[in-house]
Amino acid sequence: MRVDVILSPEEVVHHDLAGRVGVVIDVFRFTTTVLAALEAGIERFYPVGEVEEAWRLKASHPKLLLAGERNALKIPGFDFGNSPLEHHGRRYQGGELVFTTTNGTRAVRAAREAALVVLACLRSAPAAAAYLADLGQDVVLIPAGLEGRFSLEDTWCAGLIASLLPGAEYGDGAKAALALWAHLPREDLAQSAHGRRLQALGFSADLSYCLECGVSTGVVLWDPETGWGALGEEG
Ligand code: MLT
Repeated sequence: MRVDVILSPEEVVHHDLAGRVGVVIDVFRFTTTVLAALEAGIERFYPVGEVEEAWRLKASHPKLLLAGERNALKIPGFDFGNSPLEHHGRRYQGGELVFTTTNGTRAVRAAREAALVVLACLRSAPAAAAYLADLGQDVVLIPAGLEGRFSLEDTWCAGLIASLLPGAEYGDGAKAALALWAHLPREDLAQSAHGRRLQALGFSADLSYCLECGVSTGVVLWDPETGWGALGEEG
């Protein structure tokens, strides 16, 4: 089993994802929020890159719920923003979310050549790693980053997942992510560029929630063929 970590999402075009498992990580906050929504009972989600696409889908399927952000804030007219705390503790009877965010949903779409895509975050990292270990296929971890740039928290989470796949053959990016994970305390991730931005916008409670590690057994899977994602059976 080979484990690679892409250090900047722009790098994804230089990797051949065919036949491999892509793991998209957006700790602050998309992949954490999707997990919270599915755990609260949302049945499935459909990530799109642009706001206009979300509105187009809603026009043809009015029952769809719209979720997402621009500049970290809820998009006017949408049902939800991109906060996991909108969902945590709630109980839905199903429902389908169309999601668009600045970095996370685009990273998922960018991974569409992969055989299967897993969405991981700190809350689900050990569960995601156990799922990947069971699959035994080559893995490319894809930190969603911040507008195309390196992201501390997403790469740290990639290092954590890589550390839970011992015996794998690690690419250079994986070795770098492992070193970051080994040397930087998790609490320090709150001071990343995106962490500080979210705090300045008043989302400190989201940050605390996103930084909780290994508290969920949910594994979020996205099917590149259909464009829909949901909790895997382990969830
Ligand atoms: C994103 O996908 O760009 C992020 O989740 C942004 C955010 O924190 O809302």
